Amino acid sequence: MSHWLIAGASRGIGLELARQLALRGERVSASVRSENGRAALQEALEPLGDRGQILIFDTRDDAQIREAAAEVSEPIDALVANAGAYGPQRQSALDMDFDGVLDLVNVNTLGPLRVAQAFLPLIKQAERPRIAMISSVLGSMALEGTFNVGYRISKAGLNKIVQCLADDLKPEGIPVISMHPGWVRTDMGGPNAPVSAEDSAAGIIGVIERLTLADTRRFVDYKGAEIDW
Ligand SMILES: NC(=O)c1ccc[n+]([C@@H]2O[C@H](COP(=O)([O-])OP(=O)(O)OC[C@H]3O[C@@H](n4cnc5c(N)ncnc54)[C@H](OP(=O)(O)O)[C@@H]3O)[C@@H](O)[C@H]2O)c1
Repeated sequence: MSHWLIAGASRGIGLELARQLALRGERVSASVRSENGRAALQEALEPLGDRGQILIFDTRDDAQIREAAAEVSEPIDALVANAGAYGPQRQSALDMDFDGVLDLVNVNTLGPLRVAQAFLPLIKQAERPRIAMISSVLGSMALEGTFNVGYRISKAGLNKIVQCLADDLKPEGIPVISMHPGWVRTDMGGPNAPVSAEDSAAGIIGVIERLTLADTRRFVDYKGAEIDW
């Protein structure tokens, strides 16, 4: 049994990760950002009894994240920094809601790092610790197209953070990777996305379980296939 921390588990891929891990009997700590988001996660963690823990934090709020980290006492084997948003309507290079995109960068780029930093002491206590940041292929510098520049820069920035964190934590034996979950049928991905949340979550769990230090600093999809940075 491993202890997983899922950040952003009120709905979508994060909720499905929590549900599948709970069904397997893993220990799960998972976060929502307000009491309103609690109900679905509570149901998903039901099979775990007191081995499931719900934390409350917004990934833009460092103090709240650190308070939540102080509530966790067991070493964390795997962190999945999943919380993310798609951002404002106007986010092209020709017409941008700058304040909205700044907020998006706060959530998508800095949020995962805030979570990783706050929980690092617990991650370091694990025997085989691993960190996966949920990014997107839209953050790849190699991908063409100009739509949703705000979302793209937020995930490109997250990818750079993953590279730096991976280098910083390699001496400590902690692999850090960036993951694209697929184009997934969630509120964010929409109803026409080809991948179900179930398949995406199962794939993400499998990739993280197989992760060793040899894989650190990689950018992979939910099936483990390499993506060009
Ligand atoms: N779906 C796709 O096709 C797709 C593709 C590529 C990458 N991704 C990435 O995969 C991750 C999960 O996406 P999803 O499709 O499951 O999205 P989703 O259904 O929109 O769920 C997003 C989750 O993130 C949480 N969240 C958003 N902003 C937050 C904040 N400031 N603090 C804490 N939690 C916050 C949401 O909580 P609330 O319920 O409180 O809003 C929710 O639990 C995201 O990082 C996304 O960028 C998704």
